[in-house]
Amino acid sequence: MSLESHIRKITTHVLYEMKLRGEKISMLTAYDYSMAKIVESAGIDVILVGDSASNVMAGFDTTLPITLDAMIYHAQSVVRATNRALVVVDLPFGTYQGNSKEALNSAVRIMKETGAHSVKMEGGIEIKESIERILSAGIPVMGHLGLTPQSIYKFGTYTVRAREEDEAEKLIKDAKLLEELGCFALILEKIPAKLAKKVAETLTIPVIGIGAGNGVDGQVLVLHDMLGITQEFSPRFLRRYHNISAEIQGAVENYINDVKSLDFPNEREQY
Ligand code: KIV
Repeated sequence: MSLESHIRKITTHVLYEMKLRGEKISMLTAYDYSMAKIVESAGIDVILVGDSASNVMAGFDTTLPITLDAMIYHAQSVVRATNRALVVVDLPFGTYQGNSKEALNSAVRIMKETGAHSVKMEGGIEIKESIERILSAGIPVMGHLGLTPQSIYKFGTYTVRAREEDEAEKLIKDAKLLEELGCFALILEKIPAKLAKKVAETLTIPVIGIGAGNGVDGQVLVLHDMLGITQEFSPRFLRRYHNISAEIQGAVENYINDVKSLDFPNEREQY
């Protein structure tokens, strides 16, 4: 038996089993080969090729501008680095909302051209037809409710969602619908912890939170935020595990000094 066959790959079914036995699911974003390799080696369960690449990798203010081609490029790089983790790829804004045929084409392109294992879509009842069509083609779908950044111009703010009763009720209804349709998991972003816990207890599919408290079945963060690569973004829910941008900047400053002072390269660093 090869070494590889000892590794139990994370599948949608494994995530479901993890929820059943109360084991929390760890999930992080990655957008490129090198970072994905590190995250995979650390033993992450799920890697999200998030459309947050639009902010983090491309420098846009929102997630709206990133294209399907760009998402496919990022996902291809991540999949090359992955062996055990389940890879989820965001369907970007404008590729699935209005037309279920276009939604299916977008999802098929992601699955065919990247080798990823599933797609993620933001929204509930409004995108029901698109979700159904993608699921009927055998493509696993992860839902995303609460703060859905692709709708930022509708919300007008990145503040906590579903604090009011009517929005909380709609969220619960949408969550149940996504489970009924056949989504394999659900992301809840920036909603009250009590509401997120209620959703996680109601659904049988895993519920993964970001800014949704610890009563859910797992957690996701944007890798560049938790590593301190991005500096300007610091919501309450974000725990920074490192301040890597300061370390990188220090290293680059040392390099610049060494080049200017003729210290680099030295005798041993040349041929
Ligand atoms: O794009 C992304 O990174 C996401 C996470 C914030 C869940 O959707």
